[in-house]
Amino acid sequence: MANKLKFGNISTEEAIKLEDTYGAHNYHPLPVVLAKGKGVKVWDPEGNEYYDFLSAYSAVNQGHCHPKIIKALTEQANILTLTSRAFYNNKLGEYEKFITEFFGYEMVLPMNTGAEAVETAIKLSRKWGYKKKGISENEAIIVFAKENFHGRTITVISASTDPDCRKGFGPFTPGIEKIPYNNLEALENILKKKGKNIAAFIVEPIQGEAGVMVPDDDYIKNAFDICRKHNVLFVADEVQTGIGRTGRILCSDYAGIKPDIVILGKAISGGVLPVSAVLSSKEIMLTIKPGEHGSTFGGFPLACSVAKAALEVIKDETLTVKAERLGKVFRDEMNKIDSPLIESVRGKGLLNAIIIKPKADITAWDICVKLKENGLLAKPTHGDIIRFAPPLVITEKQLMECISIIKTTLSSINK
Ligand SMILES: Cc1ncc(COP(=O)(O)O)c(C=O)c1O
Repeated sequence: MANKLKFGNISTEEAIKLEDTYGAHNYHPLPVVLAKGKGVKVWDPEGNEYYDFLSAYSAVNQGHCHPKIIKALTEQANILTLTSRAFYNNKLGEYEKFITEFFGYEMVLPMNTGAEAVETAIKLSRKWGYKKKGISENEAIIVFAKENFHGRTITVISASTDPDCRKGFGPFTPGIEKIPYNNLEALENILKKKGKNIAAFIVEPIQGEAGVMVPDDDYIKNAFDICRKHNVLFVADEVQTGIGRTGRILCSDYAGIKPDIVILGKAISGGVLPVSAVLSSKEIMLTIKPGEHGSTFGGFPLACSVAKAALEVIKDETLTVKAERLGKVFRDEMNKIDSPLIESVRGKGLLNAIIIKPKADITAWDICVKLKENGLLAKPTHGDIIRFAPPLVITEKQLMECISIIKTTLSSINK
């Protein structure tokens, strides 16, 4: 007889079968079905409880179904959800003032997904290149770092070096150059060689999807200075690293710089709605004129209310400070583990990864399946890396419990 269901009316087995049958196979999920979430925990339909150590790729920094964010959502949902930008609405301006002051920028361009915000930053950089820098029409170049992840649209994957992202999707958008990450010489060289036509350098302060690649301490600061020298915009993609995740509101704060353009997404809404944003100065932002860019949903009243509440939660609950402190605890404890499976541990704040040593019959995927069986959900990336990114609302006690799950799991595999 089937297990009695605790949440919803579809079992784990049925839910997987339905997705498999009717959904495109563009993901390969861990075999777990989530039916409920609260704070750092999630439950499957049968009522099994798990710690969420992915946080929807860092979108749920504030924890699942945070009461303040859900209150903002439901209250606004009863009043006004979508107007389009054909009209003003009474939530957008208030939110725009709030978010620009929150991050210390003059203007914001609201969008929905991370990839859309990256596209927006590319368009904005090109426009600035033509209007302000004086690049000849259609000659603008945007520089990206190799091994990046900025999303899935055609232009964004044109900047990718990951064969899985690109194969079978060409032809690609021109005007893109790729240089090695964490390599200042490569940046200096390309800017020297082609700087006249380069509008922007778009970079992740930590490459999240690449497996939490933390660059040298001085990389971001020096890259910013090199861009300045060549009159090239420095654009930080903080979709994954931003909003407290790494122990600062923006990860680029560690470098003491203010990027010309910041791209945000994911945790702006605390995982409640697709909300993204591009922040910049008036000088750059106002190069885009009415009718030249937009989105039906970008800046919709529901998103504005939710995002404002979600950002307030980050401040009210000092989640940035918590991410920095608990991140250190996590890495210290991981480094103490004496396991032949662990090659190294890296990360900043609560964005961390362990790199698995190649071992005959054990992959990062196998370890994640075992972690799941022991009540902790994490996702492998690139075959040998496991990212650990719990919601920032996790308590030290919960974190220690999770560390103990990880230790037990690894030692059970060693046997
Ligand atoms: C750094 C970075 N930029 C952009 C994106 C794309 O965001 P979305 O999936 O919302 O389009 C991601 C998603 O993982 C990301 O990590």
